[in-house]
Amino acid sequence: MSDIRIRPAQPEDIPLILSFIRALAEYEHMEDQVVATQELLTDWIFTKEKAKVNLAFCDGEPAGFTLYCFNFSTFLGRAGIWLEDLFVLPQYRGRGIGLTLMKTLAAEAADGGYGRLEWSCLDWNTPSIEFYKRLGAVAMDEWTTYRLTGNELAALAEN
Ligand code: COA
Repeated sequence: MSDIRIRPAQPEDIPLILSFIRALAEYEHMEDQVVATQELLTDWIFTKEKAKVNLAFCDGEPAGFTLYCFNFSTFLGRAGIWLEDLFVLPQYRGRGIGLTLMKTLAAEAADGGYGRLEWSCLDWNTPSIEFYKRLGAVAMDEWTTYRLTGNELAALAEN
């Protein structure tokens, strides 16, 4: 039985967080899109406090993480938790670490009175979809995510 522990990340964990982000991007075939640096992550997570990170350790070794922030549901009239990243290193999968990370977020949602725990998942990522379904999560198939970024975002701001 593995010893699984979760703790909030500290500024000195930034190199580990960036390595997890890169590993998740590689899993999702998007590693060329990662422009995050240690400096950017330190600024936005620990100085501006715009996101939070939980780290998972298995028998004392770093094994996975969640990175999350807060959104708002006007219908519910309360904030929710937006899960941006969930990742467990391949060699530690299947030991309950992903479940423990999700339970930790669910507990934070319950403690804080947040209305929802939400995230998006790539359509081809069947293993994760199965994992999420086992938690009781429901796919929001009728909703499409829109994104404005780069030149289009700048152009809209200027006009
Ligand atoms: N298919 C079916 N069930 C699965 C599963 C899969 N591929 N992976 C996990 N489960 C089940 C487990 O059997 C377990 O159920 P049980 O308690 O009844 O035995 C439960 O889900 C929890 O599994 P756990 O060991 O906590 O999951 P994990 O530590 O392997 O983490 C992921 C799951 C998805 C976080 C991990 O596989 C991962 O990091 N994948 C790559 C990155 C990724 O896809 N992240 C999500 C992006 S949206």
